[in-house]
Amino acid sequence: MSKFNQTSFTNESLAKDKLTLYVELYKRVKTSILHGEFPAGSKLPSKRNLSIQTGYSINTVLKAYEQLEVEGYIYSMERKGYFVADIKTLIQPIQQIQEMNQTTHSQTQEIRFDFTSSIPDQENFPFTDLRKAFNTILMEEDDSILKTSPLAGDDSLRQSIQQYLSLSRNVPCRMEQIVLGPSSQYLFTLLCQIIEPKSCFAFEDPGYHRFMELIELHHFQTCALPIDQHGLSIEELHQSKASLVYLSPNHQFPTGSIMPIERRQDLLEWASQDEHRYLIEDDYDSEFQYAGKPIPSLSSLDQKGKVIYMGSFSRSLATGFRMSYMVLPEQLLNAFKRIETMFTCPISSLTQKVMDKLMRCGQFERHLNRSRLRNKRKRESLLAAISQHDHQAKLIGAPAGLHILLKPSLPFDTEPLNEALKMLGLKIAFLNDFLNKPSWLKNFTEYENTIYLGFSSLSLTEIPQAVDLLYQALRQQTKKVR
Ligand SMILES: Cc1ncc(COP(=O)(O)O)c(C=O)c1O
Repeated sequence: MSKFNQTSFTNESLAKDKLTLYVELYKRVKTSILHGEFPAGSKLPSKRNLSIQTGYSINTVLKAYEQLEVEGYIYSMERKGYFVADIKTLIQPIQQIQEMNQTTHSQTQEIRFDFTSSIPDQENFPFTDLRKAFNTILMEEDDSILKTSPLAGDDSLRQSIQQYLSLSRNVPCRMEQIVLGPSSQYLFTLLCQIIEPKSCFAFEDPGYHRFMELIELHHFQTCALPIDQHGLSIEELHQSKASLVYLSPNHQFPTGSIMPIERRQDLLEWASQDEHRYLIEDDYDSEFQYAGKPIPSLSSLDQKGKVIYMGSFSRSLATGFRMSYMVLPEQLLNAFKRIETMFTCPISSLTQKVMDKLMRCGQFERHLNRSRLRNKRKRESLLAAISQHDHQAKLIGAPAGLHILLKPSLPFDTEPLNEALKMLGLKIAFLNDFLNKPSWLKNFTEYENTIYLGFSSLSLTEIPQAVDLLYQALRQQTKKVR
């Protein structure tokens, strides 16, 4: 029989109200039975023993046992005592299942600091600007918000995005080339409808493999190609049968490297060798560059219409805002026109109008400037906290974006570290999590045991606290490894 869990039945943790005492005890024994702490057929403590263990009167224990017996959780045998019934056949009322779920939930440690997400922090969200924009648009009573917009999105917003891209990313395009969608994932599914069937998509490894899984779902072939310190390997690309390449040249995800111009030109040269070849440039966090001159986009170098540019408001505004865009090369516009009449834009017209207003009134730009400054400070605070614990830690990646890669100078094993951190309420990711082929690490041993730290969702006060916990766990692990 499993050992009786005395601590969970002690008097002090139970309600003081006499009327509910037996109910509390009944609930606790029942929860223990439902959790399998007492297997079917095992003997429960005698009324007397349970009364001594918990401090309840024998009468209270008796009432709790009687209630459990009536409900079929336990049975009694004369002069032998109380035993746990086989509850597999009992139908559990919804409330009981909820109680069980709540107990299980409280047993897992709550996440206090999440370093895996790179979402903008709530405090910085432009609630006031957004409220005003919504109000103004609703006051205008313009009936266009009651209608759907064409698949590519609202013209006025596409115009605003075209201007924004032209000014901030030097992406040369016409408004007609811009397609809006609620997410980059959605835009990928649209791409699947317009590119050559049976194409093979190449992805950077390590990289953002969510899109890879999505492409496979649409029955396209995929391949993961290794990157070196300058980005996607051209040799490997030439050897592959890929005709489309997804890449993040301006801040490679997740290594944070910036692709030099020569490699960009090599890629454009590769793409120009076949009419069906395209490069998909994911410019997911270009708004956050903290030093040096802005990095020109790959699109800005593209003379032959070989780049499909993708951007998103997920990191600059809010993931839940659900708005992303892509710029299609002129050559793909006819294919897009063929599907244009089949669907409408899945973003509500009202949301598109609001975004347009924020962009046209300069509020979005001001928000971006504030966010950049805020995230710059967070990054500095993260680096300062790390260097206080670990002078020799290696930080990988350009001073940009919303995450860094950290290679601590302390040795550790990833699994036990992760477990220890979970207990402390801290969530991190490792570079390995973004690898399709772990063999890549053989050539890049400097990336072994590298930790991914997304800092944007933590506040300035939380960052040093989270780093303290990280190093507390690292030190404990190091002792075990040595
Ligand atoms: C690497 C990368 N690309 C693109 C995106 C944008 O994805 P979505 O537009 O679906 O939110 C993200 C999300 O933040 C990302 O991390």
